[in-house]
Amino acid sequence: MNYQEILEIGSRNLKINNIKNFNLESELILSKVLNKSREQILINFRNFVNKNHINKFNKYLIRRIKKEPMAYILGFKYFWKYKFLVNNSVLIPRPDTEVVIEESLKLLKINKSKKILDIGTGSGCIVISLLNERPKCKATALDLSRKAIKIAKTNAKLHHLENKIEFINMDIDKYSSNKYDLILSNPPYVKDINLNRLDDDIKFHEPKLALSGGLDGFSEIKKVIKKSRKLLKNNGTLIIEIGNEQKSKSIILLKENGFYINKVRKDYSGKDRCIVSTKIS
Ligand SMILES: C[S@@+](CC[C@H](N)C(=O)[O-])C[C@H]1O[C@@H](n2cnc3c(N)ncnc32)[C@H](O)[C@@H]1O
Repeated sequence: MNYQEILEIGSRNLKINNIKNFNLESELILSKVLNKSREQILINFRNFVNKNHINKFNKYLIRRIKKEPMAYILGFKYFWKYKFLVNNSVLIPRPDTEVVIEESLKLLKINKSKKILDIGTGSGCIVISLLNERPKCKATALDLSRKAIKIAKTNAKLHHLENKIEFINMDIDKYSSNKYDLILSNPPYVKDINLNRLDDDIKFHEPKLALSGGLDGFSEIKKVIKKSRKLLKNNGTLIIEIGNEQKSKSIILLKENGFYINKVRKDYSGKDRCIVSTKIS
């Protein structure tokens, strides 16, 4: 069987199983199997695959047909300008979260050395992207999931940032430390009642710990805001990602905890996505 034939089998099977990007994903799966770029595959359509390749291709295809996200099958995802290893212990980095990076970069001057805390670091995508852009800063990355911390550490090593980030496996509720200039967080904020309504890719494969914000979707946002009050220096900034539904409650809680609201930032689909606020009292 040649590349073109196996790609056609892949596309057909993905298509009849309602996978939207069936052609692209078939190509990506073959590129993973052959360890070649998509371009190399597309210009060598007549090359042959061996039995081992076919077996591997079928295994990945079945995983995708069971709605496992492509990022977990491929083992990586791009976020901001960088590549991050992912597995099913971490949330797949979302483009929406890039607004957190954009807002952070506006605050952090290139030559200044600031102390940053990333609460719920997951793959480490936020803190690693930021430190790649602002090499004079140092950071702490905290997550309740031991497996997430392992992936985040691996990503930090791949980006040669392991000496600039301290990793802590802990519930944010239990964390105390010296004060930070900037706290960033993309906490879980899906209401429990909505967990079942998520797409199968997310519902059955991404970690619940990274998604569930309790009954009202607000339990982890609340922890982050209350803790940030203690962990930030005066005039320090908290940039927190929120769901559309948590904006008003978050603003009220931030104000009650001595924060000034600098900005509510929309994502590129026009949804309120993060709040930038300064600790003033
Ligand atoms: C929505 S994911 C965000 C992951 C990553 N920062 C990103 O933006 O892709 C939330 C992360 O918070 C972690 N988490 C959930 N509850 C936590 C808690 N109480 N304390 C610390 N981390 C927590 C989860 O394990 C998960 O990795």
